[in-house]
Amino acid sequence: MSLAVVILAAGKGTRMKSALPKVLHPLAGRPLLRHVVDTARRLDPARIVVVYGHGGEQVRARIRGDDIEWIEQAEQLGTGHAVQQALPALAGIQRTLVLYGDVPLIRETTLRRFLDAAATTSIGLISQILDDASGYGRIVRDASGRVRAIVEHKDATPEQLAIREINTGIMTFDNPRLAEWLGGLRNDNAQGEYYLTDLVAAAVATGEEVATASPDHPAEVAGVNDRAQLAALERVYQGWRAEALMRDGVSLADPARIDVRGELKAGQDGFIDINCVFEGRVRLGEGVRIGPNCMLRDAEIGDGAEILANSHIDGARVGPGSRVGPFARLRPGTDLVEAAHIGNFVELKNAHVGTGSKINHLSYVGDAEVGSGVNIGAGVITCNYDGANKHRTRIGDNAFIGSDVQLIAPVEVGAGATIGAGSTLVKDAPDGELTLSRARQVTVEGWKRPVKKTD
Ligand code: UD1
Ligand code: CA
Repeated sequence: MSLAVVILAAGKGTRMKSALPKVLHPLAGRPLLRHVVDTARRLDPARIVVVYGHGGEQVRARIRGDDIEWIEQAEQLGTGHAVQQALPALAGIQRTLVLYGDVPLIRETTLRRFLDAAATTSIGLISQILDDASGYGRIVRDASGRVRAIVEHKDATPEQLAIREINTGIMTFDNPRLAEWLGGLRNDNAQGEYYLTDLVAAAVATGEEVATASPDHPAEVAGVNDRAQLAALERVYQGWRAEALMRDGVSLADPARIDVRGELKAGQDGFIDINCVFEGRVRLGEGVRIGPNCMLRDAEIGDGAEILANSHIDGARVGPGSRVGPFARLRPGTDLVEAAHIGNFVELKNAHVGTGSKINHLSYVGDAEVGSGVNIGAGVITCNYDGANKHRTRIGDNAFIGSDVQLIAPVEVGAGATIGAGSTLVKDAPDGELTLSRARQVTVEGWKRPVKKTD
């Protein structure tokens, strides 16, 4: 049966107190609406329709996708009115699932279970029992437990207000019936709105059974209206990510202190210390250890590698058995082949570093090809930029670069070469030889320090 997912996202989000439309506020680095769109996509629907209003152009620009049909609801006259606007986009589709753009954590598993439960009826809803149901639409059931209606809080009688089963807002409909029921909607209620929820009573009046399901986890149906609710859902989501990592065999120093804002895949027996942030696509091999306060974005860390405290790794590959940090910065294009040692206050950019090479202290190596078994001393700088263009530095296998050397690129150091400390290299250094470029040390015999005049 063909399915359309209609995502309601036209509300203003006044309580966010923000110039940014509410559904674009990020949760785990992704706009709220994108969470909902991504979950909708996993249901493999024939169509995804987003009803937008406030900040429409900005929303469309941020949430790209050829599979999304955008429908404008210029005036927000209620959830029923919003779905009415989407009707033309539902032509030829048999079933509709309504989601909210500001309810980001709904899961595919819950939705599939819900759609199965509603497979043989024309209408269904996801409900939930709450201790405090205030503000929500209440599910009214008859003596035999069959759903009769949804009554909005503002329209409810005192007895109805005592009902603790609420409407989460997630509903499903058979399309021909949906159009028919929407056609009969009126706005003679406390808020003067066209309520999608009134479709329940309309369906019951035509003899329909209303299917219900509930979410696996209460946070799945929690909406974001203000920044405090957004922060609370962020923690819930991060808790889920932490649990998944631990299930996959990774130890976390504290599951409450990790932030995953993208895709993180990790092999068994890894360990992640506190306050680490993962963005983009990050892969950790088996037995990888990440120290406290590390930031990894679009990175691949090989088996058994260790990232020590306060390191920043962006767009880089760290080969197996390597050791990076503390306080190291690997920038895009860095590739440590294997068992490399990168120490404190070392910055690498677009640098290929061969097996077993060491750059342990206070260095900048950019646009460089470093062979294997190379030792780069403290304070070495590849001067890769002449103010207009970038140039490459090549360092052969087993070379030894003394401390405080500047390599003025383009320049090449041969295999097995040694560069004396303090040298400024402007020409290539041959294989196997000692090259240095510093003034010879002299001692001026009998020299006396000047003394202060006294008169
Ligand atoms: C709605 C439900 C209520 C349910 C609650 C769950 C109705 C009438 N009521 O109430 O039963 O308990 O959600 O949170 O449906 N929207 C539009 N266009 C509009 C109005 C709303 O796109 O004209 C969107 C909003 O952006 C939001 C969603 O629909 O994503 C729900 O709107 P909201 O105003 O929050 O509905 P509630 O009054 O809270
Ligand atoms: Ca709401």
